[in-house]
Formats: sequence, structure tokens, C-alpha cells
Amino acid sequence: MNRFSNYVNELFKWNVEMRRFLETDNVEANYELWQQLDEFTELIESTGKQLSDEELLSLQAKAENIHERMENYFNRKQQEVGNIWISEKTVPPGGHTLPELPYAYNALEPYISEEIMKLHHDKHHRAYVEGLNKAELNLKKARDNNDFSLIKHWSRELAFHGSGHYLHTIFWRNMVPKKGGNPQGILRAEIDSYFGSFEKFKNQFSEAAKQVEGVGWAILVWSPRARHLEILQSERHMLLTQWDTIPLLVLDVWEHAYYLQYKNNRGSYVDNWWNVVNWNDVEMRLEQAVELKWAAF
Ligand SMILES: [Fe+2]
Repeated sequence: MNRFSNYVNELFKWNVEMRRFLETDNVEANYELWQQLDEFTELIESTGKQLSDEELLSLQAKAENIHERMENYFNRKQQEVGNIWISEKTVPPGGHTLPELPYAYNALEPYISEEIMKLHHDKHHRAYVEGLNKAELNLKKARDNNDFSLIKHWSRELAFHGSGHYLHTIFWRNMVPKKGGNPQGILRAEIDSYFGSFEKFKNQFSEAAKQVEGVGWAILVWSPRARHLEILQSERHMLLTQWDTIPLLVLDVWEHAYYLQYKNNRGSYVDNWWNVVNWNDVEMRLEQAVELKWAAF
């Protein structure tokens, strides 16, 4: 059996399991998930033995789409029943706090001195927390007064101090006294499969860090879209983004997105754009994003 028919076979099994799952959970017969599953069943039943790469990819995409919708369906139900998020700590506007170091200031010596750690954590990181709180409170004030004349300034502050706070919070926990060694488990597997080897990963990460233009960070990220690791450089640490956040709703205001139709009138493009927002999609992204929970600071 080749890998194609293996995969289609897997899809058949998966399809049967999904049906059983929906039945045991008494999902309403008219719910759109059933309809999608019916369509999917028809599709794989009509599939010939030999599939082209495109046909296979398209089948895979459909299966993933159904899977995603199913997960969201069950997440929503859970929410209705238990609503487990509400009691968890969330950070209100202006409510960020400086996380404690998970070890003593001198614990990383001789590699990083006590003096640096004290200054870095207690002065620099604290300043980011304070700056972020200030930006959030000023944006709250702007919303309450419907006065966005300083939106550019506060958005910049929000990005600069937000990234500073979130990245340092990760940074402290990325380090531990007297450890080192090599990554293991799923991390090691992903590193090997994407970068080729731990050595190659380490070389690229080191060079990315050494060659950041001016000041900034080297950052190992996971891309949920590509489902692989990547190494990025961040100059300074914002250029108006907040690292450690997940985009939910995005609006393209590059000229190519509106110029042919709206010429230089970006404002009316933005105002009209609200007519075509797919809130179901935004909600679906949020439902997936809230599953990921870091400790709140
Ligand atoms: Fe720093």
C-alpha cells in the first residue's frame, strides 16, 4: 500500500470515528457539522485509487477544517457548561506587574553577573511594566473620551513597553542556573527536522543574535500556520508589534489594498471595510488562542 492510499484509509477511519463521536455527544442532527461530514464522506467515497498531490492536499485541508470546527464546537459547549476561563487571572488595563525572578540575582554567575541581573530585572524590566501600564491607561482614557488624537504615540508606547515586558518575562524563564546541555523530546525533534541538527540551529541562532542591527533580540518561534520552528531577529523589540500576542483581526492598509478603488481616501476604505468582517472567523481564532495560557503578569 503506498502512502497515498494509506492516508485515504486513515481518513476513512477518522471519518467513522468523528461520526461516532458526534452521535455519542447527541449533536443535533441539523447541525452544520453533520452536513460537512456528509459532504466529506461523499468526497472520499468517490475518490479513485490514485490521487494527485493536489487532490490529496485538498482532502487534507477539508479534513482539517472539519476537525477545527469540531474542536470549536466542543469548546463552546464546555464554555456554556463550565465557563472555566472567567475565574482565571486576567490583566486589566494598567494592571501589569513585574514577575519575580525564578532564581536569585547571582544564580547565573559566572555567565551573567549579579549586578547585571539586578539592574536588568529591577530597573529595566520594571520600567517596561510601568510604561506598558501607562500606555494602556492612556488608551483607556482615549476610548472613554473618544479622543484618539494621540493614538500613534500610545500605540508606539504600547508596542515598545509591551514587547519589553513580555519578552523579558519569557527571557527570565528561558534561563536556569547550572543547566545548559541539549534540548530533548518534541523540541529536539522539531529542531532536528527543521534546522537539520542542533548544531546548525545553534549556529543560526547565535549569528542572528550577534548580527541584530543595533539593539534587539534573537527569537525562536513556533509558527502554528507553517507548523515549524523559525528564528527571527527583532530590531529594538517592537516596530509597533507586541511579541507574545496572537493576531485575531487584521486590516490591510497598504495602498495595494484600496488605491485602485479608493485612491488616497484610506478613511472611507476603513469605514466600509467593517461591512465585510467575518466575525465567525475572528471568534474561531479567539477560541483557539485562549486555549494557550501563560501565567498572567
Ligand atoms: Fe533587556
